[in-house]
Amino acid sequence: MFSATEISLPQLRDGIHEALKLWSKPNDDTSPLDHLYLFQQVRQSHSGNVRRLTNDLLLHSLKIMEDQYDPFLADLLRQRFLENSSVALVAIEKNIAEATVHKKQRQAIDQLADILAKQEHQARHATIAALEQRLNLPVAIDLFGIEPYLKQVSEALLVPGPAWLVAIEGLGGIGKTTLAGTVVRQVALTHHFQQVVWISAKQQEFWPGLGLQPTAQPALDSDTLTNTLLAQLDEDLAGTLSPQQKLIRLTELLKAEPYLVIIDNLETVVDFEALLPLLSRLANPTKFLLTSRMMPPHSGVTSIRLAELSRDDAFNLLRYEAELRHMKSLTESSDEQLDSIYRVVGGHPLALKLVVGQLHSLPLSQVLDSLRQAHGKKVDELYTFIYWQAWHTLAENSRKLLLIMPVVQNGTIEQLNTISQLAGGDLHDSLEQLITLSLLEISGALDQRRYRIHRLTETFLLNEVVKWRKSP
Ligand SMILES: Nc1ncnc2c1ncn2[C@@H]1O[C@H](COP(=O)(O)OP(=O)(O)OP(=O)(O)O)[C@@H](O)[C@H]1O
Ligand SMILES: [Mg+2]
Repeated sequence: MFSATEISLPQLRDGIHEALKLWSKPNDDTSPLDHLYLFQQVRQSHSGNVRRLTNDLLLHSLKIMEDQYDPFLADLLRQRFLENSSVALVAIEKNIAEATVHKKQRQAIDQLADILAKQEHQARHATIAALEQRLNLPVAIDLFGIEPYLKQVSEALLVPGPAWLVAIEGLGGIGKTTLAGTVVRQVALTHHFQQVVWISAKQQEFWPGLGLQPTAQPALDSDTLTNTLLAQLDEDLAGTLSPQQKLIRLTELLKAEPYLVIIDNLETVVDFEALLPLLSRLANPTKFLLTSRMMPPHSGVTSIRLAELSRDDAFNLLRYEAELRHMKSLTESSDEQLDSIYRVVGGHPLALKLVVGQLHSLPLSQVLDSLRQAHGKKVDELYTFIYWQAWHTLAENSRKLLLIMPVVQNGTIEQLNTISQLAGGDLHDSLEQLITLSLLEISGALDQRRYRIHRLTETFLLNEVVKWRKSP
């Protein structure tokens, strides 16, 4: 499995040595470098001979070595492998001992591996950055306890054949969307899918005076699904085709090549009844990854249920979040102190993050005392307690900003500025406070930041705060 960061240098060195030895051998189906994302990338865009593609990759790195690193070593590799000169001949030509040729050859391969690893890293990074931008994924952070789930979901998606429909299930805030985002980043580096597309179903509607109301309509109907998918697949056919023709076009696309379609927030029975038959028809070879808080059992769906974080993972998350916020005392706090948080909050990642945020300005005892009132109640109520506590610590401007977030989800700083009417400095301070409290999520590169609130935060604002403000 590819990962965004790990490139094994020993494996790469062996692969390079092997590939150099095969330089002038006849074509083959496999390449000693085919574990590289770079190799898969050129293989996708250039049809042809595997040996030629491998040699091109080597040549490109050799050229970099020659121009920017060590021309002597680059030349030695050329002579030894591209021109097939013996060690004895190279020793004479370079006027060095044969033992030195062997030593220099090892050095040269190490250097070539470093160069190729750097290029590989850049290629992976560029692909992931483009994907994050296109799908508006939250900024990647360290995640705890997800390895087994990551493996399960990725394997289900990468196995050729069923499962066509894979679902990540679990409570609100447990990490479904985050896991789906991580899976997508990994899978995008495999070239297994033609393209990855992502749709979020909208669950509730906000009615002034009534707060959030579940809609009787499916959150995602087949027309919206079809239109959104075609738009993301750059099939700009709107207006020219009837809904049936669009569906036929979408079916053609998804049936011709394997795509990966993520449908986030598919919650209600209405959603499933409306969509599953259609998804089953569209699937194979395309795969669908669904996330759902509550999914009715369905025989055609491979379901993976996310549980709360273990105590150790919860501790790691608490310490990591504390470190991010430079909260030295929490980073260094004892297991007993962390356990006091874990006993009240449990292994709910979002709740743990929110609590860390509050500890920035409130003492632990006060935060825990207040949360104990939610003890034994449902998780929803725990969140309501946590959110009210956060709300009370907010400055007036931060409250103002938070309250406009439901209408500027994924907003840029300019949009937040216009709608909140907060001046630059005030807006900056409010953003900082909300981010410290984990009330805002960030996506996009540094110069293209976008801000949004979590669905649970939105529910709290619209169901609790707005109603409370309206009450006499
Ligand atoms: N394993 C984890 N380690 C660290 N943080 C996590 C982990 N899982 C989730 N989080 C954090 O918890 C928050 C909630 O996660 P996420 O949005 O994925 O939940 P969800 O299950 O999709 O919730 P919802 O059902 O409301 O959509 C995010 O801020 C995410 O960064
Ligand atoms: Mg989610």
